[in-house]
Amino acid sequence: MEKACGHKGQGCPGIVAGRDARDCHRGAPGTKLTSMKRDMTPADRVLAALGRGLALAADRNAPLAGRGNPAARTPPADALDAATRREVAALMRVNHAGEVAAQALYHGQALVARDPATRQQLLKAADEERDHLRWCEERLHELDDHPSRLQPLWYAGSLAIGAAAGLAGDRWSLGFIDETERQVSEHLGEHLRRLPESDGRSRAILEQMRRDEERHGRDAREAGGRPLPEPVRGLMRQVAKVMKFGAARI
Ligand SMILES: [Fe+2]
Ligand SMILES: [Fe+2]
Repeated sequence: MEKACGHKGQGCPGIVAGRDARDCHRGAPGTKLTSMKRDMTPADRVLAALGRGLALAADRNAPLAGRGNPAARTPPADALDAATRREVAALMRVNHAGEVAAQALYHGQALVARDPATRQQLLKAADEERDHLRWCEERLHELDDHPSRLQPLWYAGSLAIGAAAGLAGDRWSLGFIDETERQVSEHLGEHLRRLPESDGRSRAILEQMRRDEERHGRDAREAGGRPLPEPVRGLMRQVAKVMKFGAARI
């Protein structure tokens, strides 16, 4: 029995011989489809986000959240000697990798967030992490060094962790942000202590990043984030250690 399809897109016959009008888009027998379209599955969405994220991380021309590099307000310091420059670059490479991971965590969480307001909050924070990423990359360039070559690994792993945190529910997801940002802020404090006094440019970047991370954590807490159990917090610290070790060297 023939039914009107209603889609009438390119390649759609308009009439379908099947049980259901939508059969034409499922390739029902008797139709002459040249293209088929289907709803995106969760796996499709993850792969699409992964592709977008990797393209974003590689795209130097992607728009910022609107804030210039804080280092631009700092006069150029005396040239660092070669050994100090390498040490500072290793720190900035770790921070750059952390920002790749931060974006991926937020993207993964946004992918599965239930509440549209939570999703918006996550995506806005991800935009700010992109500013941080760019500032670190610019500083690495000034130091005549390069970002971690393991960026795709940091992005993919963090996207999976973010999605897992998001699947636990929005309040756990917000709690995960609160804890992540707390650990990142502590880490930035440690790097600020390790930076040479004379390196005002790296210092200006990390200080602004720390202020932003503290605000991201506070926002997540105020939006209802639940405190994470200690074993989860400990696991997060161990994962971060692995990333810092790898990014400083590769
Ligand atoms: Fe950040
Ligand atoms: Fe952040």
